[in-house]
Amino acid sequence: MIQDKGCGEIRESDIGQNLTLCGWVFRRRDHGGLIFIDLRDRSGILQAVFNPDVSGDAHELAHDLRSEYVISVSGEIRKRPAGTENPNMPTGMVEMYVNKLDVLNESSPLPFTIEDAANASETLRLKYRYLDLRRPEMQRNLIIRHKATKVIRDYLDEKGFLEIETPMLTKSTPEGARDYLVPSRLNPGHFYALPQSPQLFKQILMISGLEKYFQIVKCFRDEDLRADRQPEFTQVDLEMSFADRKDVIENIEGMMKRLFKDVLDIKLETPFERLSFHESMERFGTDKPDLRISLELKDMADLSEKGSFKVLLDAIQSGGRVKAMNGKGMAGLSRKEIDMLTEEAQSFGAKGLAWIKVKNGFESPIAKFFPEEILRQMAQRLDAEEGDLMLFVADKEKVVHDVLSRMRLELGKRLNLIKPGHKFVWITDFPLLEWNDEEGRFEAMHHPFTSPVDEDIEKMLAIDVTHEELLTSHFSLLTSIRAKAYDIVLNGYEIGGGSIRIHRRDLQRKMFELLRISEDDARVKFGFLLDALEYGAPPHGGIALGLDRLVMIMVGATSIRDVIAFPKTQKAFCLMSGSPSAVESKQLKELYIKLNLP
Ligand code: AMO
Ligand code: AMP
Repeated sequence: MIQDKGCGEIRESDIGQNLTLCGWVFRRRDHGGLIFIDLRDRSGILQAVFNPDVSGDAHELAHDLRSEYVISVSGEIRKRPAGTENPNMPTGMVEMYVNKLDVLNESSPLPFTIEDAANASETLRLKYRYLDLRRPEMQRNLIIRHKATKVIRDYLDEKGFLEIETPMLTKSTPEGARDYLVPSRLNPGHFYALPQSPQLFKQILMISGLEKYFQIVKCFRDEDLRADRQPEFTQVDLEMSFADRKDVIENIEGMMKRLFKDVLDIKLETPFERLSFHESMERFGTDKPDLRISLELKDMADLSEKGSFKVLLDAIQSGGRVKAMNGKGMAGLSRKEIDMLTEEAQSFGAKGLAWIKVKNGFESPIAKFFPEEILRQMAQRLDAEEGDLMLFVADKEKVVHDVLSRMRLELGKRLNLIKPGHKFVWITDFPLLEWNDEEGRFEAMHHPFTSPVDEDIEKMLAIDVTHEELLTSHFSLLTSIRAKAYDIVLNGYEIGGGSIRIHRRDLQRKMFELLRISEDDARVKFGFLLDALEYGAPPHGGIALGLDRLVMIMVGATSIRDVIAFPKTQKAFCLMSGSPSAVESKQLKELYIKLNLP
């Protein structure tokens, strides 16, 4: 190595040593006489001093240094003169007195300075990702990601899991997003799908008797992208034989405990809280509640019915819900501010937002529709006191929950109600099936290999849906079947999900029947798994964690793009490499593909 140490590693114990260090010119302060360079490498920053008396030629050369030149400096490590120490820097007590400077490479002027890159537009940062990744914050994120991955690997190895790779060129998997397809040159007109997850292969590995599998693996999903969604992302995927929910959950809790301790030195309390899907929806309006915020939704249908406000009564009449939330201390909002809040609720899908201030009694355009006693009971249910603002949404259940769960997060932020820390929660007892109104059929809420809970198996096997109409007549029975599925949620993000699988062929057949997937269709799509299930499949189950989301929360970022070295934009575009891009017609010809562009 042409460097003795990392710049950020130099301490007072190095004083008196003559060292050679390499790095990039981060900042330069030229005082004519003394020139100061903040030299940066992955380990941190060290101040290098060029003194005309000590540095000789190096001082002359240092005049020409510019941002991001790559240099090597040699010299003595000295204690900084009294009064010039910087206690905010790990190397702030020392500096190097340079006597030799080599310019290893120059740099063109930068599109943004590394120091201010955080303020540059993300488009620019992604185009010049190699510069963006020079930022100490970004390097720290990738270092934490590396450590997290290593701790997870070691933990699973200790627990007897085998890391086994599964194919990237494969068949469509059933996670429910659109596939990325890859044409096969050797099989004209046929396509591989990039895996949305290794789901089917990991189940096959259980049937093969490998017992405990894991993989830290890229998955591909062509779906609408958001701050926490990328077209390719990484799962910590695992599967266990002879295991039930409790085994998977305990393994993951142990992993999280180890991870947070070893990487962040944070002690987590286990077991994590658990909520049934139903309870989570009722109390928070979502299946990924941010439990750092204690605000809860309350059902207001019974009290609404004791008044005469038509909007609320109509919603209940037509089978909808009325729920409310306490805007703590918000009674001081002006009419205009409340209008803005209403607009916000409308942008989330609400028709309107009814409100009642608790302020010298009750103040609201709708107060007149309710007896005083009812208003008091509403306030009591919401724990609303003098100075609070009760907010109501009436609509179909889905709309009420969508709107209030998002308002809950908004209020949490606005009123500073988000407690610091890491709030994990398991969401369990999901419904097995979910009605898809557009397609007029049930879908698996998780995926079609998820097992129902034991108590619901006989009920499920007995349902006859040989005729399509039977789906409607059995509707409530079908929606009441619960799944052995679980999601793990951290600070309002779904960081993982899994289930115990169906390992009985008759139950799997019934599941397809309920989903109205024909035997033939199931054969074409997942024939190999169905065949394998015939040959002594052990009971098994597993989970996949979204590594990007988990690391994002660990480093305190708000987008997974900040913990992925080369992420894509909202339009699934890599600004640095310029992909996707057009290909040569020769390539298309070899694949028998003709473009049919609009
Ligand atoms: P699921 O579809 O819930 O389960 O995915 C598991 C976890 O992966 C993360 N995730 C994503 N992260 C970033 N970008 C995306 N586009 C994205 N999509 C999902 C989430 C999610 O919780 N095979 C099953 C697991 C199993 O049943 O064992 C599966 O893939 O954090
Ligand atoms: P309106 O009768 O439309 O003038 O509405 C009276 C109040 O009820 C306004 O504050 C509206 O924002 C509110 N409102 C309208 N529709 C709903 C709804 N579906 N849920 C809750 N509040 C509503």
